[in-house]
Amino acid sequence: MSKEKAKIPRHVAIIMDGNGRWAVKQGLPRIKGHEAGAESVRAVVRACKKAGVEYLTLYAFSVENWIRPREEIGGLMQLLRLFLENNEHELHENNIRLRVIGRMKDLPKLIQRRLNKVIEATKDYKSGTLILALSYGGRAELVDAAKKIAKKAVEGKLNPDKISDKTISEHLYAPDVPDPDLMVRTSGEMRLSNFLLWQLSYAELYVTDVLWPDFREADLYKAIEVYEQRHRRFGDVQ
Ligand code: FPP
Repeated sequence: MSKEKAKIPRHVAIIMDGNGRWAVKQGLPRIKGHEAGAESVRAVVRACKKAGVEYLTLYAFSVENWIRPREEIGGLMQLLRLFLENNEHELHENNIRLRVIGRMKDLPKLIQRRLNKVIEATKDYKSGTLILALSYGGRAELVDAAKKIAKKAVEGKLNPDKISDKTISEHLYAPDVPDPDLMVRTSGEMRLSNFLLWQLSYAELYVTDVLWPDFREADLYKAIEVYEQRHRRFGDVQ
C-alpha cells in the first residue's frame, strides 16, 4: 500500500466505554450512564457528518455483554429501541444509512424487527453510514467468516489454496465497508476488547480519559486532529 498523507479519517470506530463509571460517580444507577451515553451517540453521529467522516462504527453491545445482569441488558435493549424510534427521522434528514454488524439473531425479536425496518428504509442513503456493533465480537466474526469459507470449500465453490487476506475480508459481516482509519476508545483503558480484530490492523488508535457520556463534538474533533498529525506508513519506511 502506498504512503498516504493523513487527512480526515474515512472510517472512525469507537469503543464507547465508561458509562457505568460515569453513573457511579454521580451516585446514579448504571442505566443512567447508558442513557447519557445515547446522547453522546447522537452528538457524535452529527459531528461525523459535519467533519466528513463517511463511516462510523460504534461498539454498542458485545458478545461478552450478555453476562451482565438481566436488568442492565433489558435496559440497554430498551434504550436501543428508543434510540431507533427517536432518531430514525434524523437518519432520513441527513441521508445516513444504518447497518448492523454482529450476531443479530441473538437480539430480542422485536429489536431485530425494528433494526431491520430502519436498515431497509435507509439502505440507499449515501451521505454517511452508521454501523452499530451489536452482539458483536471480533473473534466471533472471524469464526463466522471461517464457517462461511469452509462451507464454500466443501461445496467446491472455493479452492482452499487460494484463500487470501481478501477472502477473509470478503466474508466478514460488512465486506463492503473499508477498514477503520481511526479507533477511539473512551475512559482510558488501553485495550481492544475483541473489537474489529481483523479490520483494525492498520488503524491509528486514540485513547482518551473522557468517559463516554461526557464525549461530545469537540472530543471527536480532538481525536481527528491527533489523527491528522500522525503519519501512516502501512509497513513502509518513512
Ligand atoms: C460501556 O460502558 C458501554 C456499553 C456496554 C454500552 C454502550 C451503550 C450505549 C452508549 C447506549 C446506547 C447505544 C445506542 C447505540 C443507542 P460500561 O458500562 O462498560 O462502563 P464501565 O466500564 O464504566 O462500567
